[in-house]
Amino acid sequence: MSSDRPGKSSSGLEIQHFDDRPIGLFDSGIGGLSILCSLLKAFPNESFIYLGDTARLPYGSKSPDTISRYVKQNISFLDQLGVKCVIVACNTASTVLIGQDPSQFSVPVYNVIDPGAKRALSVSRNHRIGVIATNATVAAGSYAKSLKALKSDAVVFQRASPLLVALVEEGWDDDPITNLIIYRYVNPLLANDIDTLILGCTHYPVLRGGISRVVGSFVTLVDSSDAIIDCLHADIEADKFIPSRARHVFRVLATDISPVFATVAARLMAPLTLPTIELVDL
Ligand code: DGL
Repeated sequence: MSSDRPGKSSSGLEIQHFDDRPIGLFDSGIGGLSILCSLLKAFPNESFIYLGDTARLPYGSKSPDTISRYVKQNISFLDQLGVKCVIVACNTASTVLIGQDPSQFSVPVYNVIDPGAKRALSVSRNHRIGVIATNATVAAGSYAKSLKALKSDAVVFQRASPLLVALVEEGWDDDPITNLIIYRYVNPLLANDIDTLILGCTHYPVLRGGISRVVGSFVTLVDSSDAIIDCLHADIEADKFIPSRARHVFRVLATDISPVFATVAARLMAPLTLPTIELVDL
């Protein structure tokens, strides 16, 4: 793939520069498809390779050491496929990268926690912010740390909501039982006078309708897709992310392909067409 770096021609004119390599992104399963869909729309010229580590899902109940090992394998796997950067389209996986030396990876790696915290503070008026996430993300306290680092008087209320991941993977995103479970997890947060709720797991935007019904119109929902799009736009401006000229690759890989995964993935991607899912072994 071509990667023309910035520079000046002999006439002194600015040379346009492009990097046509695909963007790599991964999640433990279907959740990251919520980010992929948004990126496909926001960056129509970019190519993408998505990896769902479905054989090892869920990450949210695993220890930081195990998640860290999975994250390194996934990044190195995507790097070998020639991606220009890796977006960790999974909050749980992102938590283990916070505070780590980025130079250990040979590609730029984007986590979704810091952009999500930044976006939440930009939309919140009272800086009382709720976070729903997996057990691992809540235990790591990554959003609370990131929010407080950006605004020391932010008040953060977290709630682990692990059952929601399984319900999304099962395709029960519009189901009365799921809505009851959403209510059980989310409603207590409202007693804290939050005006913003971070959907701190990439599976949760699939449940946006049910979550919105519980929180009402006063609370703004922030998800990782909008946050990472903001971050890439800022990096394009700063010349840290070099755009592509035209989309030439769109691949979806998974470490396990069950009929439910394939069906739910296709439904969540609609009206975009899901390419044939490729089975890979890391
Ligand atoms: N989608 C992942 C996240 O954003 C979590 C799913 C899992 O537990 O594997 O945290």
